[in-house]
Amino acid sequence: MILVFLGPPGSGKGTQAKRLSVSKGWPQLSTGDMLRAAIQAGTQLGLEAKSFMDKGALVPDTVVVGLIGERILNPDCSSGFILDGFPRTIPQAEALDELLKKQGRSVSRTILFEIADRLLVGRLSGRRTCPKDGSMFHVEASPPKQAGICDSCGGPLVQRPDDQESVIEKRLQVYHQQTAPLVGYYQGAGILRAIVASESPEAVANQLAVALK
Ligand code: AP5
Repeated sequence: MILVFLGPPGSGKGTQAKRLSVSKGWPQLSTGDMLRAAIQAGTQLGLEAKSFMDKGALVPDTVVVGLIGERILNPDCSSGFILDGFPRTIPQAEALDELLKKQGRSVSRTILFEIADRLLVGRLSGRRTCPKDGSMFHVEASPPKQAGICDSCGGPLVQRPDDQESVIEKRLQVYHQQTAPLVGYYQGAGILRAIVASESPEAVANQLAVALK
């Protein structure tokens, strides 16, 4: 199954993609994670991407389409994968359709994570992540046992540079202007299912299971 997770920043796409990836064995393909890995590795691509990400803007379509185009050829994607944060523009969605067509495949379902903007600022500004193993925490909702330290590997937790309030506002604007039109795109294709992303992670996972039937 080829899934697209669509929703504003902080709506829980990554949280649910990780859970589903573990239970189904489909890899989670997060363009945000791929770009952050390139930044950490200090590559030219990472350097270019950082200038967009730090201000909450989208990285150019050609860059992310190139990353995904390469990644979906990997054998671990043969029985399905979860696209988390891609596509984010209509040209990206069209490019994805073309890439999949070449493999005789198509997007099976797009899951829309619906949630009000006012709930997202708190979720994002309180998020802390472990750069070493990708574990995710929230300072109030799911704090680590020891403040600032990853429960799994004992490494230091960090706040993403784009999780500052001023940048979060910009990311939300960008979502509504450039990504929200994808709702109509996938509705038109008859493969969109919406879930209420403001519920608890467990309740959202249950809705997701129903949406995938
Ligand atoms: P990316 O990394 O994709 O960030 P995003 O879409 O903004 O999504 P987030 O990771 O912030 O949120 P999420 O929905 O995954 O929520 P999460 O589960 O983490 O992109 C970052 C940047 O990279 C972009 O701004 C852009 O510059 C660039 N980029 C990436 N892809 C691109 C593309 N395709 N094209 C162009 N540019 C691209 O949860 C968030 C928090 O909420 C956590 O603390 C979590 O614990 C908590 N939480 C999760 N679920 C719940 C729940 N049900 N109840 C309460 N709290 C919850």
